[in-house]
Amino acid sequence: MITVSFVCLGNICRSPMAELICKHEVEKRNLALSFDIKSFATSEYEVGNPIYTPAKRTLEKHGIEGTHIARQITKKDVINSDYILVMDTNNLFDVLRLTSGEFGEKIFKLCSFTSNPRDVADPWYTGDFERAFNDIYDGVNCFLDSLLKEKKEAFDYDKRH
Ligand code: 4NP
Repeated sequence: MITVSFVCLGNICRSPMAELICKHEVEKRNLALSFDIKSFATSEYEVGNPIYTPAKRTLEKHGIEGTHIARQITKKDVINSDYILVMDTNNLFDVLRLTSGEFGEKIFKLCSFTSNPRDVADPWYTGDFERAFNDIYDGVNCFLDSLLKEKKEAFDYDKRH
């Protein structure tokens, strides 16, 4: 079981989109039982709130359903995750500040796994939820491809048992 935690500033737009997209993609790959997928905020701004409606509508437009309630990440959540996938540079620094610089080896920007490494621009400010969806979808699939290649034998075994 691999624990993947997606992180953004508010946990109502990008990281819950990433959580639900990733759950959808691992289901498609028949690997749902091999993953525990979560998402968190670096801030407390939106704690307790559901996915922002335009983000939810964008997911639904692409056939992805689900719910999430925003929560703020703690150091324990970092310790309990195998991968922390953040959306942008600010998120990366905020998580590293929380851990006093520890655990950097498992903290990555989501789109650094793609052929076009970039930050996922915050649709809260840009209003462009479709662009955020495309960046996150690309990042999630490139991350899964890279992980599955690295641990091919273990995943093949999980699929059979
Ligand atoms: P997210 O977007 O980090 O992608 O969830 C934001 C949501 C809320 C706020 C900022 C960004 N806010 O300032 O409340």
